[in-house]
Amino acid sequence: MELSELKQICENCRKCSLCETRTNVVFGVGDPHADIMFVGEAPGENEDLTGIPFVGRAGQLFDKYLIAVGLKREDVYIANTIKCRPPKNRDPNPEEQAACLDYLREQTRIINPKMIVCLGRISAYRIISPDFKITRDHGVFYERKGKILTAVYHPSALLRDPRKKDDMLADMMKIKEKADMLTGKK
Ligand code: URA
Repeated sequence: MELSELKQICENCRKCSLCETRTNVVFGVGDPHADIMFVGEAPGENEDLTGIPFVGRAGQLFDKYLIAVGLKREDVYIANTIKCRPPKNRDPNPEEQAACLDYLREQTRIINPKMIVCLGRISAYRIISPDFKITRDHGVFYERKGKILTAVYHPSALLRDPRKKDDMLADMMKIKEKADMLTGKK
């Protein structure tokens, strides 16, 4: 399946009740052959309105970290563990998560990135391990099925607690360095 086909399927999805309240499905953006794929939690209001992930305050902060380490949005792929906004930004429930996770799996299979970077603990819990502790394990590299997995703080956590920003910059620098090594750019 091509990414555009999967996008169309997602845009017509009615597998869970979030389809009743969404304005747009937030499928994902970036290079369809990216080496690095970032995966956040769920779309917020601005993402629901635009159909683009990470365009609100947290997203704008995230963009600064990409630029700081020499990356652009167009160089990477950015998606979320679920593709529709939960009303009032409540946590997605397990049924909603489960309904959407197959889409993310297929999206990852098609893009086939060398590295998956979870943005925040919810994504890390889903993708890396239910035992993942973001304060303890952020920036650690794991290898699974030939891919590198890692997680960084969610940009919203940095807005709430700016003391985490130094760790975020250090993690993002390590991620860029690792990706350059994996792709033979270094
Ligand atoms: N937070 C997320 O986890 N994802 C978005 O797309 C926006 C905010």
